[in-house]
Amino acid sequence: MGEPLLLQQAIQVTAETIASPEIQGIIQDLLDTMKDANGAGLAAPQIGISLQIVVFGFEKNERYPNELPIPETILINPVITPLNSLQESGWEGCLSVPGLRGFVPRYENIRYQGLDAHGQIIDRTVSGFHARVVQHECDHLLGILYPMQIEDMTKFGFTEVLFPNL
Ligand code: NI
Repeated sequence: MGEPLLLQQAIQVTAETIASPEIQGIIQDLLDTMKDANGAGLAAPQIGISLQIVVFGFEKNERYPNELPIPETILINPVITPLNSLQESGWEGCLSVPGLRGFVPRYENIRYQGLDAHGQIIDRTVSGFHARVVQHECDHLLGILYPMQIEDMTKFGFTEVLFPNL
């Protein structure tokens, strides 16, 4: 947090370049970094690359032990459509904002579309934590960090104070 790249709108990936070693290398870096840090997701600007690529998913996550698994996903040039106006708040953290958690409102039910690592179309309808993670990661592509989305700043603090068992 504080790095100007994290506050910028990321650039769209040209579909024809997805198979290139450069883009495939970025995808691998994102997956490796996410797993190494036990993240639920990661966006390219977080590793210093201003491109519209996010990765997310886990079987079991130490940082979010009570959440259901999310399939490992590489999502390029994502578009999110809320399915209705229902929002729910939940706790979020971010590898670019280490040691902190905040209570963030997100759409409960969304459709997301984009391309996968092979340039194939992804089109899913999801809810709950899966929807939360996608909205958090895609916010990174718009230059938005989760603290900017907190409505009640009394619900923002250190992970070790808020969740001493994590
Ligand atoms: Ni994040």
